Amino acid sequence: MTLDRILFEQYWHLACHRRELANDGDFIKFDGVSGEIVLFNDNGEIVAFDNTCPHRGARIYTDEHGNRPATCGYHGWTYKNGTIIVPEKARFKSCDIDRARFNTFQVDWCGDFVFFAIKPRMGLYEQLGKSADILENISFNVDRRLDLNRYDYECYWPLAVENALEPYHIAAVHAETLATLQLGDGQNVFDGANSIWYAPLGNARVVNQLARLRRLFNIDYQYEGYMSLYIFPFTMISSTYGYSYSLQNFFPARQGESRTRFTSRLYASNTLNENATRVLDSFFESTVRMNRKVFEEDHEVCKLLPRDSWSMEPLKYASDLESKILHFRQTYRESACVQHTNHQLSK
Ligand code: FES
Ligand SMILES: [Fe+2]
Repeated sequence: MTLDRILFEQYWHLACHRRELANDGDFIKFDGVSGEIVLFNDNGEIVAFDNTCPHRGARIYTDEHGNRPATCGYHGWTYKNGTIIVPEKARFKSCDIDRARFNTFQVDWCGDFVFFAIKPRMGLYEQLGKSADILENISFNVDRRLDLNRYDYECYWPLAVENALEPYHIAAVHAETLATLQLGDGQNVFDGANSIWYAPLGNARVVNQLARLRRLFNIDYQYEGYMSLYIFPFTMISSTYGYSYSLQNFFPARQGESRTRFTSRLYASNTLNENATRVLDSFFESTVRMNRKVFEEDHEVCKLLPRDSWSMEPLKYASDLESKILHFRQTYRESACVQHTNHQLSK
């Protein structure tokens, strides 16, 4: 098994916020190195499975997200209330039809964020470490999804992740967007495999504008600056002032494809009341636009990176703004090492 696949299968991945799957039949689909994963609301229970019908293997959901029952379009098998409803069940006399199961995966919660894992090597809270507190707080301050945007980065996933981990490129790549915040050097906090960057905003005009918006929000958690939390291996959450949160997944594509399955979502934080929501409409709209632009800029530059630009070895030339990359590679090496040891032990 490749290490990409091991990381995908043995770690917990942040899938979405509770409110994105609030109603019976709500679903969201992901694609990664091990195939598709769907999370859907089965009458109040969140279920994760491989989007494959146990009858003859048809894909159940084809849209990226939406609301519809988990019914197979081929012969109508339906996953409902934890069991399968089989049309004309009496015809399956020659087999033990009651043993048919969807291939489900583990699901767990950190606050209102739902995670899935295929064969996790540890519990969710162990994996998250100190980041769990921060994630819980963020999740309770999230109101709704403003945007879901998905495409492939034409580069190998560690290159996309490393790009997201370093602010050194901001001046050159995001001159008209992120660079206008004039982020300071800030501070990196490392916690196990995960890391956070807290950076103050240097643009006084923007700081004043953002400070004025504070009264329109009903939030009890924020960092008054720019923060970006990395959850090893594939997930980032970033925010300016906690008014909205951008969640990004960088899943490895199937074997042999040097691509990254990128999903970004923007969440609005809780607002004071409906009137405040209306007032904030254009602020949120411009945040969505800005975010999309930033990721397009990132994608353009990531396209310049052939797969063999990446290795797990430490960077040869590392600026002080690239220390999170060194940390990422170290974690990656340790992860590869654990895998190697497990493999040796199981021989
Ligand atoms: S393949 Fe799904 S019901 Fe037959
Ligand atoms: Fe960037």
